[in-house]
Parts: sequence; C-alpha cells; structure tokens
Amino acid sequence: MKKKEPKIRNASFTDARAIFDMIKKHPNELVPRSISDILQNIDRFVVCEVDGEVLGTVSWAVLPEIGSAKHPSVEIKSLSVDKSLRGTGLGRRLVRSAINHVKALYPEQIIVLTFTPEFFRKLGFVEVPKEKLMYKLYTGCLNCSKYDSPFTCPEVAMALTLKKKS
Ligand SMILES: CC(C)(COP(=O)(O)OP(=O)(O)OC[C@H]1O[C@@H](n2cnc3c(N)ncnc32)[C@H](O)[C@@H]1OP(=O)(O)O)[C@@H](O)C(=O)NCCC(=O)NCCS
Repeated sequence: MKKKEPKIRNASFTDARAIFDMIKKHPNELVPRSISDILQNIDRFVVCEVDGEVLGTVSWAVLPEIGSAKHPSVEIKSLSVDKSLRGTGLGRRLVRSAINHVKALYPEQIIVLTFTPEFFRKLGFVEVPKEKLMYKLYTGCLNCSKYDSPFTCPEVAMALTLKKKS
C-alpha cells in the first residue's frame, strides 16, 4: 500500500518517546536528550509524521542573555530525518517550520552548530566565527567531552539573521 504524504506538525506529549528514539539514532550528529527534557520542551518541537510514525524531528531553544535583551538568539537543535526519507525535502520543511515558529519571537538571529553546513547554507544560514557564540559554548559545548575544546570540534557555527521588531 502507498505510504501517506509526510505531515509536518507541532509535537505533542505522546510523541516524546518517538522523538527520544529518533535523536538517539544519531549519536554522532545530535546531542542526546532525556525524555524529561523533551517533555518539558515539547512545545518547542516540530515533527514529521508518516503513517502515524514520527520520522523527523526539529526543536529550538532560546539562548541565555545577561540583562534585559530585547532580541535574544535562538538555536535550532535536534534536527533529524529518517534515513529512508532523506533527500526528499523534509529536512528543509522541518527547519522552515522551526524558523516560522521562532520568527514570531523576533530573535536577533537563529544559530546552529552543524556537521552539514551545506544543508543550512541552502536555507540562508551563513558561517560565523564560534567566538561570536560564546554563550552557546559556555552553556552547551562546555559539557561535551568529544573534543578538547569547542574550537577543535569540527562542527560549523552558522547563523541566520532576522529582521528586528522596530
Ligand atoms: C541533515 C538532514 C536533516 C537533511 O535532511 P534531508 O531531508 O535529507 O534534507 P533535504 O532533502 O530537505 O535537503 C535540502 C537541500 O539540502 C541538501 N542536503 C541535504 N543533506 C545534505 C548534506 N548532508 N550535505 C549537503 N547538502 C545536503 C539537499 O541536497 C537539498 O538540496 P537542493 O535543495 O539543492 O535539492 C538529514 O541528513 C539528517 O537527519 N542527518 C542526520 C542528523 C543531522 O546531521 N542533523 C543536523 C544536525 S545540525
């Protein structure tokens, strides 16, 4: 029987386990996330559903700021598309959906740390020096043990600058 069209939709609590499994399938590219973390941030997840199965995920997080920043930065994270569906535009649809959610908040920029810069370049992201994302390095990368330092990690830092609310 023909598979139904993939559907991009907001996640709900019942998706938490499937999201957890999808993220776990990509240990080299994605930072693991606990079920509790996923549940607490479920309103910051969009999924791709095919025939009732979650086969794609994306989420976002607001990065910390000191003081009363009007336009904090937002990070795209936990982006995954099942191997069987890659190359069909779902990754792009997931990221665009995340960007649309985030845009309503008027962040200064959306950032990502990635091993697939070409994919994000096609979505308008440009490479930025990691030094420009120190808050991300201090709050996330600091606890990563894969490399001696974020500056020797091959992940590429990228940003999409958005229009600020006047
Ligand atoms: C990266 C990933 C999400 C891309 O998903 P996808 O559904 O295959 O991507 P799309 O089909 O939407 O591709 C959109 C465009 O990016 C290109 N692209 C996709 N993956 C690419 C890659 N790894 N390298 C270079 N270009 C890539 C596609 O060719 C396409 O280009 P086009 O518009 O010229 O045709 C997917 O490969 C994945 O889940 N990888 C494992 C987890 C991961 O790396 N997540 C990102 C963490 S930041």
